[in-house]
Amino acid sequence: MTKITKPIYLFANWKMYLDAKQSLELVKKIKLLQKKLPKNITLAVLPSALALSAVSAALKKSKVGVGAQNVFWVPAGGYTGEVSAQMFAEVGAKYALIGHSERRHQFHETNHEVMQKMEAVLTAGLIPVLCVGETRIERDRGETDEVVEAQLRSAFYKINWPATRPPIVAYEPVWAISKGLGKNAAGGHCDPSEAGRIHLLIGKILKGLLNNKIEPIILFGGSVRPNTVKEYLVQPHISGVLVGAASTQFNSWKEIINNSLVK
Ligand code: PGA
Repeated sequence: MTKITKPIYLFANWKMYLDAKQSLELVKKIKLLQKKLPKNITLAVLPSALALSAVSAALKKSKVGVGAQNVFWVPAGGYTGEVSAQMFAEVGAKYALIGHSERRHQFHETNHEVMQKMEAVLTAGLIPVLCVGETRIERDRGETDEVVEAQLRSAFYKINWPATRPPIVAYEPVWAISKGLGKNAAGGHCDPSEAGRIHLLIGKILKGLLNNKIEPIILFGGSVRPNTVKEYLVQPHISGVLVGAASTQFNSWKEIINNSLVK
């Protein structure tokens, strides 16, 4: 076994799985675990909006980053139920997920709204983690590449991307997300070399769009499990993973982290 030496980003999307108490319990263990990790591993957790403030306070002085799962694009005002990027920044968020497929498909978020959120997040000083990915129908029609390209183009439309910062994008094929059994789930496992091909494509599109010379950070997401993480990370254009369900239990998250250290 050899050490994986490239920078690796392991982001935990807790979705609406954990309440504030459970989030705090989990993050305390992750904080201790992070101290033992090599420098090439970057960890971040994305708790619910309600738990974010307490989680970020618990992570003060820790290298574990905290991110919001969604933001509203207006800084403040009469928008019942929404939370702005500024508000998340104020309580310690560093990242914000933008355009997650569950937002796009369950809450009908459009490419235009995704672009507005990108702008708002950058203005608030947060780092956007833009999610892109095709549905099963789009894949079956052979439209994967054009769907991903359209999502990237519209999200970065008019965005003045800072030349010194790598963009972060998560490729999450919609059909592979939340398939409880990962590799064993019928039809839900994205072949790592196919994921690698899309990552390469995303990298090329981003370089053209942003005129940014820095290597982008491109994460893979879609039912990543302890037994599948390594096969994604060994792909040259995959810089890390965005994990949902398997990141909400300490043991499986720890196993994912440990399996990311060596190949
Ligand atoms: P999953 O979620 O690992 O539960 O499929 C990934 C995501 O939606 O970010």
